[in-house]
Amino acid sequence: MTASIPCLSTIDEMRAAVDEAHARGASIGLVATMGALHEGHLSLIRAARAENDLVVVSIFVNPAQFDEKDDLRRYPRVLEDDSRLSAEAGADLVFSPPVGEMYPEGFATWVQVEELTEGMCGRSRPRHFRGVCTVVMKLFHICSPDRAYFGEKDAQQLAVITRMVRDLDMRVTIVPCPTVREPDGLAMSSRNRRLNPEERAEAPVLYRALTAARDRVQAGERDAAVLKSAIRSVLSEVPTAEIDYIEIVRAHDLSSVATLSGTCLIALAVRIGRTRLIDNIRVRA
Ligand code: PAF
Repeated sequence: MTASIPCLSTIDEMRAAVDEAHARGASIGLVATMGALHEGHLSLIRAARAENDLVVVSIFVNPAQFDEKDDLRRYPRVLEDDSRLSAEAGADLVFSPPVGEMYPEGFATWVQVEELTEGMCGRSRPRHFRGVCTVVMKLFHICSPDRAYFGEKDAQQLAVITRMVRDLDMRVTIVPCPTVREPDGLAMSSRNRRLNPEERAEAPVLYRALTAARDRVQAGERDAAVLKSAIRSVLSEVPTAEIDYIEIVRAHDLSSVATLSGTCLIALAVRIGRTRLIDNIRVRA
């Protein structure tokens, strides 16, 4: 039998479910998504299931975090499949509001985390993290989660949300969850659906480049410039791969490093065809 769970679309309905959960002393786990769920999301839902009484999956394609209209338009929307997958992974309910419910006429308030949002994805997507932080803050207010689960694949997003929660004294605990990969190493992402068969075959070059750099770090290399050039050389195996950035940053504050020490992230964004993919790997130097 196919699993089915309630799908709420208004803030009032969601708040009523939260109030009912709080009245019985239930803890709430939130997995915030834009839908097109894959195994990466399902691993977050399973993690939330293991630690909370009520598991909420939000599915909202947030227009405020898209810099390109075309990217927003092409974003996959498959609510029925997503609700079923959420239920099968152990969620109790889905919250999927229409855009007007989240951004009513005259909406004018934004949450902006500074510095951490300036490099990496923030450089080519200047309004992206403002949109992410604003919608995540709204989802936290609406769903009142005790814990919220985010994937390490979106390392900058995770760092930015963690900082927002700390800076604004929010009660929610942010739970980081490991990146889930396809057997060939490609990090799972809703955007992978947009790759045509040739692009899909090329896309694992991101992970090959990251692991080549990680191997060099493990062999003793500490010079970020040398590591970046090793990454570029692997990426050049795919002539159509267009590099947006290759960054090596301190894991805790995302500041760039010239010489690796402590825990660092090697992160990249690369366009394969029209699809921009990101990935990262954590190294200890
Ligand atoms: O990671 C995502 O899917 C989105 O950025 C998020 C956190 C759901 C906010 O829209």
